[in-house]
Amino acid sequence: MPHTKNKQIIGLFGFGVVGEGLYHVLQHSHTTNATVQKVCIKDPQKKRSLPSEKFTSDAGQILDDPEINLVVELINDAEEAFQIVSQALKKGKSVVSGNKKMIAAHLPELIELQEQSGAALLYDASACGSIPVIRNLEEYYDNDLLLSVTGILNGSSNFVLSKIFNENKSYPQAVKEAQQLGFAEADPVLDMGGWDSLYKLVILALHGFGTLVKPSEVFITGISNLNANDIRFAKEKGYRLKLVAQATKINGKTFNLMVMPKMTTEDEYIYNVENEYNGVIIEGSFYEKQFMFGKGAGGLPTGSSVLSDITARMHGYRYEYKKRKYFSIPKHTNDVTVKVYLRFKNLLDFSHFEFENIEERFSSNSYNYVTGTIKLTNLLHIRKLIQTLDVFLAFFEKPGPNSLSVHR
Ligand code: HSE
Repeated sequence: MPHTKNKQIIGLFGFGVVGEGLYHVLQHSHTTNATVQKVCIKDPQKKRSLPSEKFTSDAGQILDDPEINLVVELINDAEEAFQIVSQALKKGKSVVSGNKKMIAAHLPELIELQEQSGAALLYDASACGSIPVIRNLEEYYDNDLLLSVTGILNGSSNFVLSKIFNENKSYPQAVKEAQQLGFAEADPVLDMGGWDSLYKLVILALHGFGTLVKPSEVFITGISNLNANDIRFAKEKGYRLKLVAQATKINGKTFNLMVMPKMTTEDEYIYNVENEYNGVIIEGSFYEKQFMFGKGAGGLPTGSSVLSDITARMHGYRYEYKKRKYFSIPKHTNDVTVKVYLRFKNLLDFSHFEFENIEERFSSNSYNYVTGTIKLTNLLHIRKLIQTLDVFLAFFEKPGPNSLSVHR
């Protein structure tokens, strides 16, 4: 029998793919002592699968309802989401959110709001869909043995890469499918450009290492410019391209974050992660490598992660951000060197990249590529420019004995 204590009376914001997924999951969870009292939506005209009395477009009907003790925020717009979440916390209502962009952009304020109000904010659904990576980083990996967190954090781009690589589908066709299946963000550039992975990585870095990193301090590049030449290069050399986000300790005092397509090899765990699945490799001293794998996108898998945060609130769970309190936390650095593949069309585009060392060079009338090592600081410096160039960039595991090497 569900107990009545700690009943979660939920005010839900958003009834899109994940909101509806959560509703469905909740109906099937008989041990969860929670009920959705009201759903706040933007478009009251849209046909819904629930009776109209459940819906409102007035946020106040949730935020000002004293009976509602948990706000679940599952809307697209990050700034609107921040307004909702901060108002709810200020009113003492705990919140569950899946909005990685909002969370990554506002972590310092969100931590402070929780401290001031005593209310809690949980967001395991914001990273890697159904994989419980945040709570594990927070609770299990609560010591300084953790060395890196690397993985495929975005389901849509992985789905697109699988469709292109394994089924020879075109890029636009694969993106359209990812949208139709409800994996992709409203603006798929967020997925394909690496932004979604970046926001998730910033959140994982906080819970893994205790450090707050601004998204603008991280180098990212995605798969939007991928073309047939890049796929041929990867296939001929036995690689599979994956969009990888990684947080890597460089030494006891520093770590690096970056998001970039990677030429993965058969011996890597993520090589076989396909479609909308995500895979996260956690590496640490003494335990070496561990691998978490599961569905990273989709209404029901992500809804199940939201459900887990709801049940966690039933038991009064909150993130303590322990590493921030008890560790001397490492600093983020971009002072590392990476080995990359760069495909480009003209020498002017190439001239922006200051390679340390070039290993391989290929030129033809239609395209060119080089492989070699480059400083991440150079790539970060031209991050915005890269988005405007006809180039594709991917990295390889190792420039030398280490995947990232430090400049001393
Ligand atoms: N668009 C996201 C993805 C949804 O494809 O991973 C889950 O965060």
